[in-house]
Amino acid sequence: MSLPKKNNARAAGVLPSPYEDVREWLKVVESIGELKRIDGADWDLEIGTIAEVIYRERKGAIPALLFDRIKGYPKGFRILFGQQTSYRRLALMAGLPLDSVGLKLVARFKEKLAALRPLPPRIVKQGPVFENTMSGDAVDVLKFPVPKVHELDGGRFIGTACIAITRDPDEGWLNLGTYRAMVHDKKSVGLFMSSAGKHGRQHMEKYFKKGKPCPVVLCAGQDPLLLLAAGNPIELGYSEYNYCGGIRGRPYDLVEGEVTGLPFPASAEIAIEGFLHPGDVKADGPFGEWLGYYGTRMEDTPVLRIERIHHRNDPILCVARPGRPPTDYSLSKGMIRAAQLWDRVEKAGLPNVRGVWSLEPGIGSLFNVISIKQAYPGHSRQALILASQCLGGAYNGRFVVVVDEDIDPTSEFDVLWAMATRCDPEQAVEIIRRAASGSLDVCIPPENKGHSSRCLIDACMPYDRRHQFPPIAESSEELKNKIREKWKNEIFG
Ligand SMILES: Cc1cc2nc3c(=O)[nH]c(=O)nc-3n(C[C@H](O)[C@H](O)[C@H](O)COP(=O)(O)O)c2cc1C
Repeated sequence: MSLPKKNNARAAGVLPSPYEDVREWLKVVESIGELKRIDGADWDLEIGTIAEVIYRERKGAIPALLFDRIKGYPKGFRILFGQQTSYRRLALMAGLPLDSVGLKLVARFKEKLAALRPLPPRIVKQGPVFENTMSGDAVDVLKFPVPKVHELDGGRFIGTACIAITRDPDEGWLNLGTYRAMVHDKKSVGLFMSSAGKHGRQHMEKYFKKGKPCPVVLCAGQDPLLLLAAGNPIELGYSEYNYCGGIRGRPYDLVEGEVTGLPFPASAEIAIEGFLHPGDVKADGPFGEWLGYYGTRMEDTPVLRIERIHHRNDPILCVARPGRPPTDYSLSKGMIRAAQLWDRVEKAGLPNVRGVWSLEPGIGSLFNVISIKQAYPGHSRQALILASQCLGGAYNGRFVVVVDEDIDPTSEFDVLWAMATRCDPEQAVEIIRRAASGSLDVCIPPENKGHSSRCLIDACMPYDRRHQFPPIAESSEELKNKIREKWKNEIFG
């Protein structure tokens, strides 16, 4: 692959040549000025805290953070945080022009999804992931600088920006899911699949029902697009390899695991092969989780017994920092969920959608906004109900707001103004009970985990009174432009 010369990508403002793996992607990221290298930090809380401080004190795009010379580890054994913390890097992953920012990024990604043709991967014999292999007594996950991220975490987590690969034992399709993996010892980690809806967990349960161990490959470093897909729901039975192959327009080259037979990216940084065994569980966590709170300690998390570890020379361990947002994925979850949701409501027949947005404090699912140009009575309710129950909105949701087309769904200020002024709660709010939720939802008591409610807020002007609604008290664009022009030197220059 030919990479753009330094800064050329930035100047062009468009997608550079495609990339294959984390390393090639990082070269492009560096060329657009979005990579920060940090040497000499400690895996024990220091790296996680540096990431947190940079995320929370952000000014503009948060760079990807590449740590090297980590305390107690050889130079070259690196950690990458923050793959998904800028619009331009998300655009790069999705194969979109680098000027795709905010709603433009969501709209372009939605167009890609709407036209998506899945592309199956290819099996190849060799790849850089086989440069080093540990087996037998040599297996040691702590050969990598696995970080302890937050003070109250129950341990060191190697799986946070990982893909856990499993195969459906009956139907044969491959799933990729991002599930946290806490290190128990050098040959075992937990694999926390938080709810019955997780596809990896469904695969595991099918094996266990047959009394068989479930093979798993846990990759911790691969094309960032695979992480984007593995960390967000797509339909049951649809492999993320095919989905991402379709998005990038090129199939993935995969090698097969020596002991599991499962295919994983030939250019992965680290691939851990092992098995989950029926009844083999251990306590895991707590871990600072995606909602911004410590997830509870889980007493019965399946244990992945490791049989092989393959890794590249100078491996880059890819991890993510959840916790109080902004996090590694509060921006990206919003981008992908909003695009999925927009695609799905349109496919369900909802007309006149002007934009869909997922507010970052809602971390991709808890606060979604849909903007429509109202066309008929009931249009806004239809938008709310569809948006709360389709892919991108159905799982772990909370608030869905529908606004008129003059409201910018990406502006928290404008959305709150519409809610405050255009809706009378008694008329405008609907509650859906017992919708799909996960085990980490902090405001649901333990005995009710699995379900939560949705609050649907119709913040559109009431359809039958929209022509009588008082005009908005703001100057016309024409007048504003005239005034700007007249005063451009004194005030607006
Ligand atoms: C960085 C990151 C970490 C995640 N950690 C977990 C986790 O530990 N357990 C879990 O069940 N889901 C976790 N998720 C959410 C799942 O990856 C997500 O629900 C995904 O759809 C699961 O894949 P599946 O639908 O194929 O099961 C995480 C997501 C991201 C982006």
